[in-house]
Amino acid sequence: MQQFDDSRGTRVVAADDAGIAYAAGELREGRLVAFPTETVYGLGANATDDPAVSAVFAAKARPYFNPLIVHVLNLAQAAEFVELNPAAEALGHRFWPGGLSMVLPRRAACRLSLLVSAGIDSVAIRSPAHPVARALIERAGVPVAAPSANRAGRISPTTAAACCEELAGRIPTILDGGHSALGIESTIVGFEQGSAILLRSGAIPREEIESVIGKTDQPRERGISAPGMMPSHYAPRVMLRLNAAQVRHGEALLAFGAHPLPGSQHVCNLSPTGNLHEAAANLFAMLRALDASGAAVIAVMPIPNAGLGEAINDRLSRAAAPRDPR
Ligand code: TXA
Ligand code: MG
Repeated sequence: MQQFDDSRGTRVVAADDAGIAYAAGELREGRLVAFPTETVYGLGANATDDPAVSAVFAAKARPYFNPLIVHVLNLAQAAEFVELNPAAEALGHRFWPGGLSMVLPRRAACRLSLLVSAGIDSVAIRSPAHPVARALIERAGVPVAAPSANRAGRISPTTAAACCEELAGRIPTILDGGHSALGIESTIVGFEQGSAILLRSGAIPREEIESVIGKTDQPRERGISAPGMMPSHYAPRVMLRLNAAQVRHGEALLAFGAHPLPGSQHVCNLSPTGNLHEAAANLFAMLRALDASGAAVIAVMPIPNAGLGEAINDRLSRAAAPRDPR
């Protein structure tokens, strides 16, 4: 088991066999582990252990009204905790394991900590595809509650180093499984009175969801919603200026496509070939890099709004939203 101890007391463990076994033991004993998934890194806790789930909120400084996604191996395990419906089963068959979370009614007397639902009567549930995440859930032998492994309101981590930047000194263990290949959080679908609602755009484009279950609705103001979808979220320290047509003096540039705007010293290109999958995979790491560049503003070139572009533009507009000074 390769590992190194961060000076702030967080142990980074390579996700080999021994590392996964160690992390699974930590989860079983009620401690937190940041671990890789194919979307972003999660901050995991045994979802049946109240103090462990509570520790997730504390480590992230996450408001207790914002519920967590529970990670399981498959639909059969999900059915222990939530009530499936035909559309959910169809989506699960098509997209699990993968970047889809579904919000479903909690089963009465289910073993999950009430804290994962943050006081509401549903549970968001997902079966991740990343082999390390799967091995971890399997070896721990428990469902794993995991929000993205960042401090509340900040950019989701797609590497172990980014988890360290966010949470070193606040959690005991980070399991290092390399880069998250998709790079953007799961798509979240809820169900209400027979219709499916897209609660959060994400790793699986709306069009693909709709090819299985037909048209999805937007969240209604008074119906279910993803409480964590605050306007200001995914926020870097610097300001973002979206849909930039030119670069202003001193700005960093988040480019897209073959013709990055001229005039910036700090340029990251989400995808020189205009590929939205590549852009999603690069988004959070590049926001972090430009955040650290010292520029006061990041100009962001326009990104097409189809397919994965919907989720990318959602995250960018939240990152650009006005927020409290920090
Ligand atoms: O890709 C992902 O989904 C990652 C990886 C680690 O699985 N997780 C993730 O979790 O993004 P988090 O906590 O950062 O975002 C979950 C979102 C939040 O906006 C939360 O409010 C919403 O899901 N959510 C969780 N449980 C819910 C529920 N029962 N009803 C409605 N929304 C829920
Ligand atoms: Mg998050």
